[in-house]
Amino acid sequence: MATAYDRGAGADVSEAEIAVHWREEGYYHPPASFIGQANLTDPGVNERFSEQNFPECYREYADLLTWDRYWHTTLDTSDAPFWKWFVGGRLNASVNCIDRHLARYRNKAALIFVPEPEDEPQAVVTYQELYQRVNEVASLLRDGLGLKAGDRVTIHLPMTPELPVTMLACARLGVIHSVVFGGFSGEACGVRIADSGSRVLVSMDGYYRNGRLLDHKANADIAVETAAREGRQVEKVLVWRRLSGRTATAAPMVAGRDFWMDDLLKEHRGRKVEPVSMDATAPLFLMYTSGTTGRPKACQHSTGGYLAYVAGTSKHIQDIHPEDVYWCFADIGWITGHSYIVYGPLALAATSVMYEGVPTCPDAGRPWRIAERLGVNIFHTSPTTIRMLRKAGPDEPAKYHYRFKSMTTVGEPIEPEVWKWYYTVVGRGEAVITDTWWQTENGGFLCSTKPALDPMKPGSAGPGVPGIYPVIYDEEAKEIPKGTGKAGNICIRNPWPGIMQTIWGDPDRYVKVYYQKYCKNRNSKDWRDWPYFAGDGAVQAADGYFRILGRIDDVINVAGHRLGTKELESACLTVAEVAEAAVVPVADELKGRMPEVYVALKPGVAPSREIEQKVIQAVETIVGKIARPRAVYIVPDMPKTRSGKIMRRVLSAISNRSKDLGDVTTLLNPDVVEQIKQMVQGGKAA
Ligand code: WTA
Repeated sequence: MATAYDRGAGADVSEAEIAVHWREEGYYHPPASFIGQANLTDPGVNERFSEQNFPECYREYADLLTWDRYWHTTLDTSDAPFWKWFVGGRLNASVNCIDRHLARYRNKAALIFVPEPEDEPQAVVTYQELYQRVNEVASLLRDGLGLKAGDRVTIHLPMTPELPVTMLACARLGVIHSVVFGGFSGEACGVRIADSGSRVLVSMDGYYRNGRLLDHKANADIAVETAAREGRQVEKVLVWRRLSGRTATAAPMVAGRDFWMDDLLKEHRGRKVEPVSMDATAPLFLMYTSGTTGRPKACQHSTGGYLAYVAGTSKHIQDIHPEDVYWCFADIGWITGHSYIVYGPLALAATSVMYEGVPTCPDAGRPWRIAERLGVNIFHTSPTTIRMLRKAGPDEPAKYHYRFKSMTTVGEPIEPEVWKWYYTVVGRGEAVITDTWWQTENGGFLCSTKPALDPMKPGSAGPGVPGIYPVIYDEEAKEIPKGTGKAGNICIRNPWPGIMQTIWGDPDRYVKVYYQKYCKNRNSKDWRDWPYFAGDGAVQAADGYFRILGRIDDVINVAGHRLGTKELESACLTVAEVAEAAVVPVADELKGRMPEVYVALKPGVAPSREIEQKVIQAVETIVGKIARPRAVYIVPDMPKTRSGKIMRRVLSAISNRSKDLGDVTTLLNPDVVEQIKQMVQGGKAA
């Protein structure tokens, strides 16, 4: 497959500039069949959500929720940039996702769980059953463990119904959940437990992934050890069982610390728990993400603002109706899953499909069989999944009788030709596509077309969604006008209800990372002085559509997963023989980007395959398998500036086979560049 990336990310060609070279594509118009049934068909929405009507426009989203007490102030900016939405309001998120639907929809599927093994039956969880299960778990958390509003619980679970059940049980009590992606290692989980101050970890014995039953409980043991090292004692580990009547782990249960959920829940069968009425501004959950520095940071999301925003965007952009069978093929352990598998769809009483495994298990027809069987009509996934399915089975979709009305992509730029396959072959030209751009920090979509109102354009995310006013600034904070073809830093001029409240435990970092760069006046209480800096490069076409070009910081977007280069480098440095490490993103046909690692060894240590393997191993245990480097190169020395800074730019150019390495003559050790180039481009890699 020839992608725009094939041109190679060169020394002076940033990721941003490569994508700028995608040529402008023509429009695709939403079909009448879609428009005829869409939630949002009134072009007046632009006016309703225009700047003159901000922030009151967001009442429309908050009114989708059921409030215990209505709010008095839509947006309080008195402590800018710590925005407070719907102040004075009280509500409970689990009530909004479950209880309030019972009268009409108790017998409707809330979740349909599709296990990875194709011969294992699907499990349907109706709204009534979800209600019952969530209450029982809430009863256990409250009465069995003494957890209360404001406490944190870390959840390290795979894609099974126990994950949303546990999250919603926390939400019922006002307990703040911190879900760690199931594919992250035990160590990564432990660091996050310590940072959040959780004393309870919820895990599972095992789960299926790519045809194998993985032992997951073993990760919980490592997580607890790691957390202890970081100064946090985990008191209880609750372990769900993946299989009935059989244990999926070889790890022993530690007496007094580890408990099987099914044993504990016996005592709570049939219990009901009064939902705790929470302030709109109370935190609902933490979600960790990577940034420029080594330590992952937890984005703290609010109850009222977040829930209103995901409900509103699920309705307007995902076009979810209660009758829809909606499948967001992402992991709940990432923000996409929180917002658009759990909270948004359930707030709208949709049926949300969850799939345990990998897209191509046992073959590339699997997703389309699932869609056919369940009558999925809204499909949402990442460009990496689309690329994988296209590569492994370009003709598979035609074999199955599903019918999508709408399809979404999220997480990475999608190449126009991949977009067109998605549109024509997967969607059969009958489904609209929304390319949604946003981030963990944002709670919900920032840029996307409004599916019944705006034409689609491959390779473009579209304009800001209703109520979001994006702008592109250059380094001097000058606005780059649309249609100039010049890239810059995309920012959002205004706050919105889904924006994170702060970084958990580090408010200074929140201000510094997201607001410092373009703040017009640090003392101002006026939101107009506080544009949100997203950390992505972007370019705006003459029609106002934004094309997102990728991260401008030290983040590598691997298959839509955000990994910090610094985190990976510090993992490499745990290998005793390694003196220096540099991690660079390299263009990958399927995953968009993958990390490649350069290490220099301590004096007197000879390079060996064993050391290369140790480095790979270190990255996998400390971060997770998703971060597995594509190659490890042991170099005689790192290319450095005269002040001793490692020139990652040069290494990246070499990894990406760029012809132009930039000016290396001013380096401290220019000769080493040629040596490294020989080594890498001569094909010697781990
Ligand atoms: C990238 C995922 C291009 C972007 C919801 C952003 C995208 C990062 C798109 C956030 C898109 C997300 N087109 N790039 N439609 N969506 N990104 O926090 O670089 O896991 O900053 O949130 O993914 O990743 P995160």
